[in-house]
Amino acid sequence: MKKPFVIAIMAAGKGTRLHSQRAKVLHEVGGMPLLEHVIHAAQQLVASADIYAIIGHQAEAVREKVAHTGVRFLLQKEQRGTGHAIQCAKKELQEYERVLVLSGDAPLITVRTLQELRGFHEKQRAAMTILTAIPPDAAEYGRVIRTNEKSPMVKAIVEKKALSKSQSIIREINSGIYCFDVKPLLQNIGQLTTGNAHGEYYLTDIAGMLVKAKQKVVAMPTEDFHEVLGANTLAEMAGLDASMRARKCDELMRNGVSIYRPETCTIDARVEVAADTVLEPFVQLLGKTKVGAGCRIRSYSVIQNSTLAENITVRNGCVLDDATVASGAILGPYAHLRPGSEIGENAHVGNFVETKKVKLGKGSKANHLTYLGDADIGAGVNVGAGTITCNYDGVNKHKTSIADGVFIGSDSTLVAPITIGEGAYIGAGSCITDNVPAYALALGRGRQVIKENWAKEKKPQKKS
Ligand code: UD1
Ligand code: CA
Repeated sequence: MKKPFVIAIMAAGKGTRLHSQRAKVLHEVGGMPLLEHVIHAAQQLVASADIYAIIGHQAEAVREKVAHTGVRFLLQKEQRGTGHAIQCAKKELQEYERVLVLSGDAPLITVRTLQELRGFHEKQRAAMTILTAIPPDAAEYGRVIRTNEKSPMVKAIVEKKALSKSQSIIREINSGIYCFDVKPLLQNIGQLTTGNAHGEYYLTDIAGMLVKAKQKVVAMPTEDFHEVLGANTLAEMAGLDASMRARKCDELMRNGVSIYRPETCTIDARVEVAADTVLEPFVQLLGKTKVGAGCRIRSYSVIQNSTLAENITVRNGCVLDDATVASGAILGPYAHLRPGSEIGENAHVGNFVETKKVKLGKGSKANHLTYLGDADIGAGVNVGAGTITCNYDGVNKHKTSIADGVFIGSDSTLVAPITIGEGAYIGAGSCITDNVPAYALALGRGRQVIKENWAKEKKPQKKS
């Protein structure tokens, strides 16, 4: 018994027109490689074990980048065209009744359209169904030749360089996405030839061949042509990125997120934001960032791979990277949370405060001009302005532990490794090098000296 459905993603091509060292399918839009977007769509239709990515150009780099998705890989050693790519998958396809062929360079395709395509193909009992579109400019695409305008039946696909004058006015393009019955596909794919402008095996030629073999070939147009757009140049890549981000903002706004001036915000495809959160202009939410409900992210904050709980305020100009923030916290303006920062419930991290590998406990505050690195800070701690954890001795990093309820006076330096016990006080301007027991007051500074009338008597006088 054959399995019903497999997806093959063609991703072996070079992308010559990008003039880039990087494989085309690894270029990113919406903060994720083109190919990964296509894989995500595919994974919503079938299990990863039934998805094959056909790779070739920079195969190892491509494999490494998307291996975490769990799809299978097939190697197309030499890139001799889209038809040849599918020939390389022959053995694997034989196990299945039908195959959905996707292009690794068309990342905007939606699951809904792919489901429609599959349904249409099955209903039509076709051997091949071509997903088509009518973009404003068809010039760079292969065109679909129907038997007549009203019929879904297709005679052939003609590549742009082979178009006759009368064919070149056809506006319906081939998206490069198809559904096939595997049997007729494999019966005919061996007969492709390279007698064309590029000397390649074109998968598109299979349409005419199937028609000749009395097989049914049909076209299904997409409602929204944007979905099938690919990128052959970096300018087109920027266009895809803009479409993807606009779509992302729309989706978030539909789900209750307020975005002021969405056209100025940069939100990656995988980002999650809960309802009643407000994003001000020029906010960037990147990577796998998650923002809970009721937060306000003010302008010019850039948040990457971070998790924010509910009701958090991120004031202007904060930079967060691999950080976790618990509910009710207030950050910034201009706070810098580096990897491993864990900010507790209702904690405050104020302006020009940098944190790295730090736990800042519930309700603790570091409000001004501070560096906290490699530190474990309890609840209800007050970190005075200008406090520095001296975590680096020039060779190794050391840890600072500050227990609950500690008060650290302004302009203190805590030379790690060091432990400050519960409820202890550090006098302002101290350099603390020894552990401080609980509830003690530690002072580590020169004692103040007063010299009465010094200014009047000893102060050097200006020569007149
Ligand atoms: C292809 C179609 C064209 C269609 C267009 C839609 C052919 C011959 N033409 O042209 O009708 O309008 O897509 O975007 O198919 N690839 C491989 N191995 C190869 C060559 C390509 O895996 O040997 C992959 C590429 O990585 C890419 C996809 O196939 O993801 C399409 O290849 P590309 O060279 O971009 O084809 P187009 O010129 O865009
Ligand atoms: Ca293409």
